Amino acid sequence: MLIPRYASKFASLIGLAAAIGQTVGLLVGDVKGLAAGEHPGWKEPWALGGERQTVLATSATGLEQWIQSEYIYALEHIVQNVLPNGAVIASPSKSHPDYYYHWVRDAGLVMDLLAQLLPENPTLIQPLLELYANFSKKLQQTPNLSNSPGEPKWNVDGSDYRQPWGRPQNDSPAIRAYSLIRYANYLLERNQTVAHLYHHANFLTGIKGDLEFVSHHWQDTCFDIWEEVEGTHFYTRMVQRRALREGADLADRLGDDGAARFYRMQAGIIESTLDDFWDPDKGYMVVTVNRTGGIDYKYTGLDVQIILSALHAGLGDGVYTPDNDRILVTATELNKAFAALYPINSRYIGTAVGRYPEDTYDGYDTLKVGNPWPLATLAMSQIYYHLTSIWATQGRVDLTDVVRTKLLPVLGLKLASQPAVTADKSLQTARVITRDNPEFLTALESLLSLGDHYMYRVQRHTDLDGRMFEQWNRNTGVGQGAYDLNWSYAAFISAARARNHAKDLLKSLKQQQQQQWWRWW
Ligand code: NOJ
Ligand code: NOJ
Repeated sequence: MLIPRYASKFASLIGLAAAIGQTVGLLVGDVKGLAAGEHPGWKEPWALGGERQTVLATSATGLEQWIQSEYIYALEHIVQNVLPNGAVIASPSKSHPDYYYHWVRDAGLVMDLLAQLLPENPTLIQPLLELYANFSKKLQQTPNLSNSPGEPKWNVDGSDYRQPWGRPQNDSPAIRAYSLIRYANYLLERNQTVAHLYHHANFLTGIKGDLEFVSHHWQDTCFDIWEEVEGTHFYTRMVQRRALREGADLADRLGDDGAARFYRMQAGIIESTLDDFWDPDKGYMVVTVNRTGGIDYKYTGLDVQIILSALHAGLGDGVYTPDNDRILVTATELNKAFAALYPINSRYIGTAVGRYPEDTYDGYDTLKVGNPWPLATLAMSQIYYHLTSIWATQGRVDLTDVVRTKLLPVLGLKLASQPAVTADKSLQTARVITRDNPEFLTALESLLSLGDHYMYRVQRHTDLDGRMFEQWNRNTGVGQGAYDLNWSYAAFISAARARNHAKDLLKSLKQQQQQQWWRWW
């Protein structure tokens, strides 16, 4: 299955994966020689919908090694899923199910990841981005049944797909835009031209073509990323906002002032609509408001799309970023719902998570029984890795009500009973744990370990050779649905990188703390 022209370049991927680094023994305990997910002290996780009280010591060694080898496997497969004409297939599977198409969303998410990896391996990756940019331009010029850049799915030869489908899906052009904006920024930083990616006078193709569409049509209802519900969706709004914010910055850089102003203004208006998705009665963020069509049985409104939104489109400015309380409480609720729903969650460590509880798509047919998905489970790990990094960077944990009542109990931290904090401050009123508090590192380590529990789950159900699918059977844990799903691999790599970053930060915090103790002595 290897495309020969890439074969010789795989050696360099190994160097890339080595950059992921190996730091073992960071977690509370380092139990060697155990199979993934098995720990002598492990009791059923949140399996029955209750909340787990302690995050147990886990085998960091087995996980580290697996992550490193899976990283190489995932990257190889992503690269193979880019065809020589620039089409990016969702999966090589041509039947049962047929995913051998260029989905604009899947392609954009994967290429945005490759654009992040560009500095590490430009020789391998830059040609792929060029091909993708070129193919995207061709799609933008091809008439299609959505009659817009929101057409979600294309034949791999670049011709339009004419079967009935949930169209349009307006997240797609936004994701395509920001993946190419990342690439354009890379080129600009190296004083290279981006005229083939963005041109002031080009309102129909390239990055600006998509930004024009997004900025003028973000209010339109459309199908959601699962291609099932028509309405107004949080995820769609979040990626549209990201595209417009980053697009405005790019337009500024290129002297396209009027465009920059307009994109920024629209992004601001989108922001003012995001709170509509907070449901105060339910106490979490709901996936869709204003449903106008499509399936009608998503009665809880709970959907991992909320977590994906924070990961794919959080901009580090506090607007629904991974440290946002509403995102965090939604993550807790998702965990609870899926822990109770899937039989495999009563075995092994970590919760396998699906798209949404009412899902009936089994990877082949729509009216069956829904399953957990690797990309959803990886999103849960990644959100906690990011939160670890955010807390480490700000040197402080804000004890909001959500952190105090939802997160700390899950981490097994009952600060109220910790003498270190009780000494002079009343715990009921403590609003923050600062980095000079011994509890600070404990909280961060437990949080990283919480992310690892989801990672263990992913390891448990990934084929021994590294192959991932779209889903895992909810009863057996065996992979099913499209094999080598490109998005599963991209989700894995993103989570692994977030983990590595969090671990690096923790390591240097620890070193600083040790140095301080030395000084005290
Ligand atoms: C129904 C699924 O729920 C949806 O997510 C999928 O994209 C289509 N079938 C096509 O496979
Ligand atoms: C079904 C998923 O629901 C959708 O999000 C995805 O784009 C397609 N499969 C292709 O992977």
